[in-house]
Amino acid sequence: MALISLGLEGTAHSFGAGIVTSNGEVLSNVWDMLLPKEGGIHPREASQHHAELGPDIISRAFDEAGISPNEIDIVAFSRGPGLGPCLRVTATMARAISLALKVPLVGVNHCVAHVEIGCFESGFDDPVTVYVSGGNTQIIAFAGGRFRTFGETLDIAIGNMLDTFGRIVGMRFPAGPIVERQAKEGSKYYPLPYSVKGMDLSYSGMLTAAKKLYDDGVPLEDICFSVQETAFGMLGEIAERAIAHTKKRELLLTGGVARNNRLTEILEGVAARHGAQFHRVSPPLAGDQGAMIAWTGLLQHQAGDHLEVSESYVLPKWRTDAQDIIWRS
Ligand code: ATP
Ligand code: FE2
Repeated sequence: MALISLGLEGTAHSFGAGIVTSNGEVLSNVWDMLLPKEGGIHPREASQHHAELGPDIISRAFDEAGISPNEIDIVAFSRGPGLGPCLRVTATMARAISLALKVPLVGVNHCVAHVEIGCFESGFDDPVTVYVSGGNTQIIAFAGGRFRTFGETLDIAIGNMLDTFGRIVGMRFPAGPIVERQAKEGSKYYPLPYSVKGMDLSYSGMLTAAKKLYDDGVPLEDICFSVQETAFGMLGEIAERAIAHTKKRELLLTGGVARNNRLTEILEGVAARHGAQFHRVSPPLAGDQGAMIAWTGLLQHQAGDHLEVSESYVLPKWRTDAQDIIWRS
């Protein structure tokens, strides 16, 4: 009989609850995002958002799935990395559910979940993954029992760069989709720092330079065009090198910035040049949501990877490559 997993995601500004079966059915995936009135996310405000809305989001997940709480076999939660207060509120809900329903508790790495949900959707076994979001920019591939970070940002994440630039020029949050729309109208390329260092990259210099272009009166659509071409070109370069070095046959694009069509186009080109298959995670599974936690939790559960409530402290700085991935060989 299929197992049913409830997954709670709450690493940053979004809280989500998803219910997934071991047959690979997503029964529900409900989430809500705190939209800051101004500035960035305040960890305490985000955690209050999760505490206030979380219980109702979880109830809605059960309603939409058409099951009752006592039908679940496990509860999984995003244990890290993320903002401490948000992680703790989410973990508290998961522990309470685990104790009340007497079901195993599973602690999931958020970044690993972005990769696993992409494999789930695409059927990929062993991809090179480009994971791009508001808080993370990583090129990941499985080697030696772990998801290794082949390259990553040395300062800010790509989504954070787009959102911060957007805020400076008066766009609402999240700015990524607005930058994408503007970029379509642009055509003149203004050079920006193309900052690839080995397999790593850096976006803070580009942010400063883009702001300067804006202050100098360069049309916004041309700046957005130039930012996208430069920022995504850098990702394309390291993804290409990762594919060339690892000889893997699959390229996966995941995380909130995976919604971008221009980035998709660039990575499709990389995959095609190397005879690799390409998959972009679909919008409902690309950003932060509970289904990815529920699914990865099931993989861990089936491999015997559980957490005692007394040991279930959160891991705000949990790196992608710090977890033994015992469910993959
Ligand atoms: P994580 O915790 O994994 O860092 P997150 O909290 O940033 O994730 P996501 O939903 O994964 O949440 O990603 C949100 C980011 O995706 C925001 O920075 C947003 O601007 C960006 N984004 C969304 N759509 C697009 C798009 N079409 N083009 C570029 N960026 C986009
Ligand atoms: Fe995420």
